[in-house]
Amino acid sequence: MTTNKKCLLVAVCAAAALIVAAVSWADADKPSKDSSAANAKAEAEILSVLEDMSNDRRYAMWNITTEEGRLLWVLTAAADAKHVVEIGTSNGYSALWFCLALRTTGGKLTTHEIDPYRISMARKNFKNAGVSHLVTIVEGDAHKTVTRLKEPIDVLFIDADKAGYFDYLKKLLPLVRPGGLILAHNTTDLASEMQDYLKAVTNNPDLETIFLHKEAGGISVTLKKRR
Ligand SMILES: C[S@@+](CC[C@H](N)C(=O)[O-])C[C@H]1O[C@@H](n2cnc3c(N)ncnc32)[C@H](O)[C@@H]1O
Repeated sequence: MTTNKKCLLVAVCAAAALIVAAVSWADADKPSKDSSAANAKAEAEILSVLEDMSNDRRYAMWNITTEEGRLLWVLTAAADAKHVVEIGTSNGYSALWFCLALRTTGGKLTTHEIDPYRISMARKNFKNAGVSHLVTIVEGDAHKTVTRLKEPIDVLFIDADKAGYFDYLKKLLPLVRPGGLILAHNTTDLASEMQDYLKAVTNNPDLETIFLHKEAGGISVTLKKRR
């Protein structure tokens, strides 16, 4: 083979290798069929447990509504939250809505509950939904246990003793990252029990608060402003 032919062959081989590499890089960005199917399956598993829980109203678990749950999912995913803190786990219904978002953001949930029976139900529901690895349940009086939290919080959800909301806010606001959200449940139907909290989130110039779902229990959504 002449030198010219050899050079041509080397150039053709190099070009072919480049094309193969470019195609595989482009493919690497696309989710494979397998991973999309696995994601859809994991999501369906959580939604199915949520549906069973909605159908099972034999025990009063004081859960949020389905619509409120969807709001938690959307806000948590949009905030790309890595750490959600919940006060008031009950049987894990609202926690599972957070998990729908957290499994896609690579985040985790720390949830606080005082009642051992509800904790055992929540554990069972997390296991059935395949999300136990995303959730840490902190047992005990949350007014005490939240003081152990040290990591930044992207989304804080308060849904426990209504008169205690202001205390939870005082203790956890410093950990909420600028741009993070503080959500509180029952801000319409039980507003009279949390007047100090409502004043704090509407009068503080570092916070911006809107009130949603006023026709049901009500949820306040508070942004900790970036300064
Ligand atoms: C309204 S329920 C929470 C419902 C839950 N977020 C949901 O939507 O699925 C309130 C929960 O807060 C718990 N709780 C009340 N006071 C508490 C406290 N001091 N510390 C921890 N949990 C508390 C109650 O036992 C109850 O399970």
